[in-house]
Amino acid sequence: MILVVGANGMLGRDLMSLLPGELRGVDIGEIDITSPESVRTLLVTLKPEVVVNAAAYTDVDGCETNRGLACAVNGYGVGNLARGSADIGAKLVQISTDYVFDGGKGRPYLEDDPTGPLSVYGQSKLLGEEQARLNPDHLIVRTQWLYGRHGKNFVETMLRLAIERSELSVVDDQIGSPTWTVELSRAIAALINGGCRGTYHGANAGFCSWNEFARAIFHEAGVAVTVKPMTTTELNRPAPRPLYSTLDCGKLTRDTCFTPLGWRQALQGYLSSRS
Ligand SMILES: NC(=O)c1ccc[n+]([C@@H]2O[C@H](COP(=O)([O-])OP(=O)(O)OC[C@H]3O[C@@H](n4cnc5c(N)ncnc54)[C@H](OP(=O)(O)O)[C@@H]3O)[C@@H](O)[C@H]2O)c1
Repeated sequence: MILVVGANGMLGRDLMSLLPGELRGVDIGEIDITSPESVRTLLVTLKPEVVVNAAAYTDVDGCETNRGLACAVNGYGVGNLARGSADIGAKLVQISTDYVFDGGKGRPYLEDDPTGPLSVYGQSKLLGEEQARLNPDHLIVRTQWLYGRHGKNFVETMLRLAIERSELSVVDDQIGSPTWTVELSRAIAALINGGCRGTYHGANAGFCSWNEFARAIFHEAGVAVTVKPMTTTELNRPAPRPLYSTLDCGKLTRDTCFTPLGWRQALQGYLSSRS
């Protein structure tokens, strides 16, 4: 049985429909990953073969002023799952992020490139990667720029803003790969099926800026909105973001034969799934 922790989240909900075999999903109502006792009791009772952790404190800007909570959930909470899963002989799959990198490489990041998180969120997720390795049978999947049907996300924000405004300013100096949670769930299923261990990158193929992504969303949705450029500095968010953090997903394809769709094709799939 595969246990999905964080099953009510944006990714968790799609994992619950797309992972193979017998599934059980739990979220904060049934497990608090910051509590070693809560984690141990649940894992010993359910005895899953695989634990997929999609639970996290994902408010990137909120993490800047809540370092304690960020580290408790995204860092040491993963350690609780790693120890608990190792104790029952289960595999741990941990979802991580491009924000463990500083964005200065200038080319897509490989799994073993040096990390250098710029934000508290990135630091807490890197701590989570270290903690996940406490279970020798671990799989860490770094992803980025997620959107899916079951959570607040950039695509829905853009489409909502377009109802109220005819002109928007969107950042054009952050580059990444928008990734549909359905595609990421398929990649995770392929990695689990393939018995993969260690660290992998999983994202839709190709890359763009948030500004290009916004224009693609409006084009595909047939919405007329003027999208103006703005810089990350002008946006002035509390948490610093990596400017260029695309992930090289070659290892995922080599080891599983799963090839993620291009980001634009994935966007088309998402938009048609919600209509
Ligand atoms: N979203 C992105 O763009 C993105 C990019 C890269 C990586 N990721 C990673 O992908 C994973 C999934 O992200 P997501 O966007 O799907 O997250 P999400 O929608 O915020 O879902 C996270 C879930 O975890 C639950 N949770 C929070 N604290 C918990 C705790 N102490 N114990 C148990 N459950 C807890 C949340 O419950 P509440 O809602 O009640 O707090 C929520 O249901 C995360 O690891 C995230 O870091 C996300």
